[in-house]
Amino acid sequence: MKICVVGTGYVGLVGAAIFADWGNDVIGVDINEEKIERIKKGEMPIFEPGLSEIVLKNISEGRLTFTTSLSEGVRNSDVIFICVGTPQSDTGDADLSAVWKVAADIGKLIDSYKVIVTKSTVPVGTNQKLKQVIRDNMTSNADFDMVSNPEFLREGYSVEDMMQPDRTVIGSDSEKAFSIMRGLYEHLGKPILECDLKSAEMVKYASNAFLASKISFINEMAQICERSGADVSVVAKGMGLDNRIGPRFLSAGIGYGGSCFPKDVAALYKTSTDQAYDFRLLRGVMEVNENQKNYFVSKIVRYFGKNMADKTFGVLGLAFKENTDDIRDSVGIEIVKILRGLGAKLKVYDPEAMYNSKLVLGSTSVEYCLDKYEVMQDSDALIILTEWKEFANIDLERVKTLLKNPVIFDGRNIMDRNKIESSGFTYFAVGKRTAGLEALDKRPSGTPGVILKNGN
Ligand code: UGA
Repeated sequence: MKICVVGTGYVGLVGAAIFADWGNDVIGVDINEEKIERIKKGEMPIFEPGLSEIVLKNISEGRLTFTTSLSEGVRNSDVIFICVGTPQSDTGDADLSAVWKVAADIGKLIDSYKVIVTKSTVPVGTNQKLKQVIRDNMTSNADFDMVSNPEFLREGYSVEDMMQPDRTVIGSDSEKAFSIMRGLYEHLGKPILECDLKSAEMVKYASNAFLASKISFINEMAQICERSGADVSVVAKGMGLDNRIGPRFLSAGIGYGGSCFPKDVAALYKTSTDQAYDFRLLRGVMEVNENQKNYFVSKIVRYFGKNMADKTFGVLGLAFKENTDDIRDSVGIEIVKILRGLGAKLKVYDPEAMYNSKLVLGSTSVEYCLDKYEVMQDSDALIILTEWKEFANIDLERVKTLLKNPVIFDGRNIMDRNKIESSGFTYFAVGKRTAGLEALDKRPSGTPGVILKNGN
């Protein structure tokens, strides 16, 4: 199959590489010349495990090429994937300007039958409108079909998710297009849902919103667990063993972030109000998520007091989750900004997100460290903000010699509570009534900055 992929972000680049790996001839198109030159040399613009090997292999075997010329891509392909970004606009809905532009440009270039597929996440009804935009811009009388084929890739695991998807959703109103798309995915042996355009668009939003709801649900449970003495990790484990619930997306923490969940939940809520319906549950999901971050910061503030001018915190993790260098809508970055706003100095480390973080945080009150132990040197406490596995196994004795106070705020529940507490640390987690929290709650409200030693 001859395929053109427009946009070489997470979705487009991974899609192009893997379509080629499946034996198709793929042309990746992007307007950013510098990016295209870097990709051609095997320099990936994003950190995605396994991606550069697949890109390089398929370039060298001649199935994968990259260009800045949309015309070259469209003319030499039968199926065109639109994979450009749909960020959140100021009003909360998806900013579709890049999608409209690409669709109009494709329309001008079509000179034979094409299947035009949107992988970008677009609100319900968009594909129908795109069809019209393409038609309005066409100069030939060639035919085309529109397909909605949403992606469900997780950053950090997108190669694996693309190779082994749980399902493929194909929305269209054309039997010819269904048959062509089936030809692309059937070999995976995974379920394919063929449906109308609008339902396919909605599956994507519904899936992300449901997963975000699962996270907000467990974060609400964390609040009750902390107050009642139950342990949210144990509760999540017990719930997850029920096949109807499943264990995933039940990790309590500082709230969900990233370039997808916050924007997609907000966009689906906007869709509901546009349809004169108030999706109350989603409003709650967003509110809980916002609160989760603030509540985590409030524990640090209650412990150290609001004036943090003489405080330095060691921060592990800045990426919005583990296994990525992406800091878009990262809750960790927001927390660093809040603490800096309260006057604290931050010593930070992330295995992959240092470069991106520097661009956003700059150097005021933030020191970028070379490894996880350097952040602890002379810091008043250790704060964990991303669930990188390597943060779970730190040498506690070493941590103790480095920190000024043996205090850890674990925003991702990645540490072993018993081990930490028996090593003499004052430990704060999410949804666990740790000794640190217990002692904090016993203090008269408004007592600022009393340092507790070993949870007493
Ligand atoms: C998400 C979806 O999982 C993908 O299926 C979807 O394709 C993608 O959005 C998209 O729309 O493009 P992603 O944003 O890469 O993928 O990240 P997730 O792994 O879903 O994590 C999102 C956020 O939720 C992260 O901040 C993560 O730390 C947080 N999270 C996740 C929790 O707080 N608890 C959990 O149990 C799971």
